[in-house]
Amino acid sequence: MSFSPGEFRKALGLFPTGVAIVSGRTPEGQLLGMTVSSFNSVSLDPPLVLFSVARNAASFDAWQAMPKYGISVLARTQDDLSTRFARSQSDKWAMVHPAYGQHDVPMIPGALVGFECERHAVHDGGDHAIFVGKVLGLNAVANHETEPLVFFAGRYCGVRRSDASPSELEFRLLHGW
Ligand SMILES: Cc1cc2nc3c(=O)[nH]c(=O)nc-3n(C[C@H](O)[C@H](O)[C@H](O)COP(=O)(O)O)c2cc1C
Repeated sequence: MSFSPGEFRKALGLFPTGVAIVSGRTPEGQLLGMTVSSFNSVSLDPPLVLFSVARNAASFDAWQAMPKYGISVLARTQDDLSTRFARSQSDKWAMVHPAYGQHDVPMIPGALVGFECERHAVHDGGDHAIFVGKVLGLNAVANHETEPLVFFAGRYCGVRRSDASPSELEFRLLHGW
């Protein structure tokens, strides 16, 4: 390879993504949650989405066994939740009351949109595994004026309407506003 792991990571970070939290409840009743930027659409019919989980995540085995999970796409104001759910093995749900959708999946309240999914497939993805979920239901579909949280070059950013021209969107570092 002509590039180092650090260079590869930096290059991947130049692809701006939204930020989502995948969430679920184990058969023992424990709430799980994990911040992911690897969420993506796969198929419209059947409705399929994906995200990938690092094999060294403490909760990796639990995700593999999870029959249903939620994916909450975060709004611009939810960067604190993204940070909280990215802290390994911490009590991520302390102070966060899950919102339950139609399919009894715990979701993040106040998200831009939530996808309730059932496990469809898990594929090998090197040091990650790729989880493909079949979407059972949509929650909290925000109106199109709600702004998303964006992750770019290792930092949180946001997209927001320009004050001068509300029909235009601006892309800025979150803490630059
Ligand atoms: C913006 C952002 C995006 C992330 N995306 C992913 C991801 O797509 N897949 C992943 O495995 N970890 C991702 N992480 C790291 C996980 O959130 C973190 O390692 C995880 O919460 C650890 O959980 P654990 O308690 O199971 O160890 C991301 C972290 C941040 C801050």
